[in-house]
Amino acid sequence: MSTGTPVATRLAFYQGQFVENSAVRLPLTTQALHYGTGVFEGIRAYADPEGGPLAVFRLREHVERLLRSARTLRIELPHDAGELTGIVLDLLDRNGCVGDTYIRPVAYKYALAPGTPFGVRLSGVSSQFSVTTVAMGSYVPQTGLHCKISSYRRVPSASIPSGAKITGAYANNALAVEEAQADGCDDALMLDGDGHLTEASTSNVFVVGRDGRVATPPATGDLLPGITRASVIELLERETGVVVEERPVTVAELAEAGEVFVSGTGVEICPVTAVDHRPVGTGRPGDLTTEVRRLYTEVVRGRRPAYASWLTPVRSA
Ligand SMILES: Cc1ncc(COP(=O)(O)O)c(C=O)c1O
Repeated sequence: MSTGTPVATRLAFYQGQFVENSAVRLPLTTQALHYGTGVFEGIRAYADPEGGPLAVFRLREHVERLLRSARTLRIELPHDAGELTGIVLDLLDRNGCVGDTYIRPVAYKYALAPGTPFGVRLSGVSSQFSVTTVAMGSYVPQTGLHCKISSYRRVPSASIPSGAKITGAYANNALAVEEAQADGCDDALMLDGDGHLTEASTSNVFVVGRDGRVATPPATGDLLPGITRASVIELLERETGVVVEERPVTVAELAEAGEVFVSGTGVEICPVTAVDHRPVGTGRPGDLTTEVRRLYTEVVRGRRPAYASWLTPVRSA
């Protein structure tokens, strides 16, 4: 799905300091490496086409989700929301980021505290936190994704809380993507144990019926209720009057849909033009999808003053 290798910027935030990215040496004993006991965020900062400062999209919401995810895994972050916000903005500034940039904070279990016995655990293990940035524009084919309904079921919330972005849980998504790509598709759509649609590998999914009604699986389901998803729901209602139904969505509805699109920080808003090698609707991006993409692009590029509070400017270098 990726159209190029992102280029890492020079500095990272690691162990409380801004350091050269290439100088970081993480011990092989790092607990999260063994057990998937880390949490992360994916955040985007957008360039202003008119040369203003870079602006981070919904930074507060991402920082709050990182803190919630960390609490789920008993990861003690040495920073509060205000400090985390400052670290992200400072890193972008110090790296001299001027073009579109992807920001990746990770908080993870690090080392057994003295006296903690060897084994899989959360308590008695210290925590670490890092942030890296990469220069990265759009990376999915905006002409449309071909998705495969995965034979891997989405890990249920009852097994790993899906509202938390937990690194280990992404083995599920990686298996699904691998399977989809081996079948000539770009991405996977995953079902829950009851056979209802949950989400794609790194994005939420919206289904537009032939009657024009829009549905997306509920935030209480086995999925990560994305920040982009919430933004799309709000944008659609405020700007077009379309109220998105948050309810279980069946595979039959997907097959019958006039349009399908996915939303996520990484993929942004992207049409799904084929599912299991069959065209969705006309097989081309639909009108509503095109409209959502237009609105979203205008918002992230600072062209919609009503949504200025969704953007946090990075002080210019
Ligand atoms: C599994 C999964 N679902 C949904 C999303 C979309 O979330 P957001 O819009 O907050 O980026 C992501 C990306 O973070 C994801 O990894």
